[in-house]
Amino acid sequence: MEERNIAAPAYVYMMRCANGALYTGWTNDLLRRMRTHAGGKGAKYTRGFGGETLAYAELLEDKSAALRREAALKKYTKEEKEALAAGFDPARFVLLRPARPADAEAVLGIYSHYVLHSTASFLYQPPKLEDYRREMRTLCRRLPFFLAENALGQPLGYACAHPWRYGTGAYAWDTETTIYLAPEARRLGVGSMLYHALLAALCRQGYWNAYAVLADPNPASEAFHERFGFVCEGRQARCGLKNGWQGVSYWLMDLAPGRTDPPEAEPRAPLPGELAALAAQARRGAGWREMAGLEQPAEEKEQ
Ligand SMILES: CC(C)(COP(=O)(O)OP(=O)(O)OC[C@H]1O[C@@H](n2cnc3c(N)ncnc32)[C@H](O)[C@@H]1OP(=O)(O)O)[C@@H](O)C(=O)NCCC(=O)NCCS
Repeated sequence: MEERNIAAPAYVYMMRCANGALYTGWTNDLLRRMRTHAGGKGAKYTRGFGGETLAYAELLEDKSAALRREAALKKYTKEEKEALAAGFDPARFVLLRPARPADAEAVLGIYSHYVLHSTASFLYQPPKLEDYRREMRTLCRRLPFFLAENALGQPLGYACAHPWRYGTGAYAWDTETTIYLAPEARRLGVGSMLYHALLAALCRQGYWNAYAVLADPNPASEAFHERFGFVCEGRQARCGLKNGWQGVSYWLMDLAPGRTDPPEAEPRAPLPGELAALAAQARRGAGWREMAGLEQPAEEKEQ
């Protein structure tokens, strides 16, 4: 597949300074920029007045769009800026980015809830933090891993992929997808953003099949996967013992629709910057097929 040059995330934001003024700026990394302002190392202006809290943010298409929007915002009257700030809630502003091993605690915080309180995961106990961080380090070298958080830096959910079965030889083009949302972040569209980014990344890397293995029953996850176009390939009863016997269902997303020719090479690792760019596009509403350069299926075009 042809590698398309895709843009890095670019935000414009307004910071509420200690004197009540609103400072406008742009950045590629909103949370880091907020920490810089709060630490007194931001712009000269906020250093003077004390950068306090994020008052407003927008995610733009690329740096040039952010610079244009920043210039436009700077011309807004105080009332116009205040109106934008009044409609902004940092707890509901979603940020999507590639996860790093340093995010292991945040990821595990979400996953542990489902291990301890549901059959969505068949584990009895959450993995130990150090073990999980090590696993993430290995996974992130090879496969996409995305984290959603809000503008307060609170984790909302994650999606990642694992090797399918041996992950090598004849199975090299297959992968298993995983997604978990913090309970309070469900049904807000965050899962869809994460999955669009994940499937786009897997497809661009050269994977042909994405499998999801769901506890059976898991009506929310089934509806979610069905909505994406995953097809249920079968159900297995009585294969996991957790709060009684549980079954699983297997779901497939064809990442190489219509292709039968043998692939020329095994899937590649994510390219530097690629996952951040896909995350930004998914956050702005792009679909995974569009980001991977695939045709939209006819039924989706009609929606
Ligand atoms: C399954 C899960 C990842 C969905 O994520 P989400 O962010 O809540 O999903 P979205 O808001 O993006 O929903 C997208 C679509 O999926 C379907 N869907 C999602 N949750 C649903 C639910 N509880 N009931 C019915 N349909 C649902 C709907 O079609 C929805 O579109 P709509 O809101 O326009 O109707 C989330 O519910 C979750 O984390 N569940 C617990 C953990 C889990 O089971 N993970 C899967 C392990 S295989």
